[in-house]
Amino acid sequence: MSTTTFAILISGVILLQVAGFAAFGFYRQQARYRALERPEPNVVPPPSAVGSTVPAITRAIAWSGEREFVVQRRVIEDGNASVCSFYLVPTDGAPLPVYQPGQYLTFKLEIPEPTGGLPTHVVRCYSLSDRPRTDHFRVSIKRVPAPPGKPDVAPGIASNHFHDHIQEGSRLSVRAPSGHFHLDAESELPIVLIAGGIGLTPLLSILNTLAHEADPREVWLFYGVRHRGEHIMKAHLEHLRDTHPTLHLHVCYAEPSAEDRAGIDYQHQGWIDIQLLRRTLHFGRYDFYVCGPLAMMETLVPALGEAGVADENIHYESFGPASLTRRRAPVSATVSIPVAVRFSRSGKTIQWDSTSDSLLELAEDQGIRVDSGCRAGSCGSCQTRIESGEVVYQQTPDADVKPGHCLLCIATPATDLTLAL
Ligand SMILES: Cc1cc2nc3c(=O)[nH]c(=O)nc-3n(C[C@H](O)[C@H](O)[C@H](O)COP(=O)(O)OP(=O)(O)OC[C@H]3O[C@@H](n4cnc5c(N)ncnc54)[C@H](O)[C@@H]3O)c2cc1C
Ligand code: FES
Repeated sequence: MSTTTFAILISGVILLQVAGFAAFGFYRQQARYRALERPEPNVVPPPSAVGSTVPAITRAIAWSGEREFVVQRRVIEDGNASVCSFYLVPTDGAPLPVYQPGQYLTFKLEIPEPTGGLPTHVVRCYSLSDRPRTDHFRVSIKRVPAPPGKPDVAPGIASNHFHDHIQEGSRLSVRAPSGHFHLDAESELPIVLIAGGIGLTPLLSILNTLAHEADPREVWLFYGVRHRGEHIMKAHLEHLRDTHPTLHLHVCYAEPSAEDRAGIDYQHQGWIDIQLLRRTLHFGRYDFYVCGPLAMMETLVPALGEAGVADENIHYESFGPASLTRRRAPVSATVSIPVAVRFSRSGKTIQWDSTSDSLLELAEDQGIRVDSGCRAGSCGSCQTRIESGEVVYQQTPDADVKPGHCLLCIATPATDLTLAL
């Protein structure tokens, strides 16, 4: 080989290497833009994030059915003393499974009748409000009063039972953590948490996990309450903000009291709305997690969609009956009315005419007793066997549904139907 040919060959190899590096750099940059539609978050991660390792957690298997827990500690979390945290330890002493931040526990409660009659059995879901630990769970429960202007109606049965009768040492039957509303651990997008009132609890679990793991993603927490008396875990949230530069805390008081300090206790006056989000967030893509009262969910979740946020980036959970219309299946399009719903054990057949919101409501209107808890597809108590026919769900069930069964609270008939009730 001549010297000239050798020189050309070497130059070619060098050129190929340079082109290869350039192509690789270009590809990585494109991938980042595709994922985030903007460069790196503009806040430097906290020093603790650099080279941090998340401590390995002993993996334990989630249990089926109920497991007994004992209340180790109770802590009041707000100025009004209307939210109480319960720290729960399993009586079998075995390690707890690692849950996904945002999931909830389901409690089966036996509530004594004050007049000495038979106890009432109720099932209720409560979100885990802290990051996963191997030795205990924490839930934070708000006392639910009677509806405004209805003093003759009994206040919330389970929440008041927790506040008034569940003490340190009390034992509780608990189903394993579940639920599809949880942190997307795979996503690299910055995170926006939007909480109204007690809806803070699952988002607190997400926030505490991100802080504990020194996650480099930027996080915004928008938290709306009426005033400081309702502000849950105020000192804890402010401590997180002060120690984690990637966390941006935006507290909204809708009805601040005379003592509440603007700019110190809260940053915005009014409820959280889409205008506030537009003003505060930079241009770009985010993962939104929303949990709050029905009024907030019914306005904010559709508004995010209308603002162009993709469905896959909006995660939400409502603590009450499922009434968000945005993702409901178009029931009228899937059912050719009229269809007949037969309750085989009660011997009743009813024409479904869409005036009921769900099969649970239809059964209750007929005086048919059905167990129910969350009325939102979460707790599994209304699960009923389908003898024939099909149902359509208004939303994806959170509880696991046995084959051949359905959750009445979020189902409507798709065809003529026979239920084992
Ligand atoms: C997935 C999920 C997670 C949740 N996480 C939490 C959490 O972390 N923290 C939390 O505090 N809550 C949470 N909840 C809500 C919780 O499960 C309960 O719904 C809540 O505590 C109210 O239950 P209760 O038994 O106290 O009230 P209920 O007895 O169910 O009563 C609710 C309301 O209805 C009124 N009422 C009762 N009977 C009548 C009547 N005949 N006519 C008119 N009104 C009536 C009551 O006075 C009360 O105002 C969650 C719910 C779900 C589905
Ligand atoms: S009442 Fe809870 S799943 Fe239906």
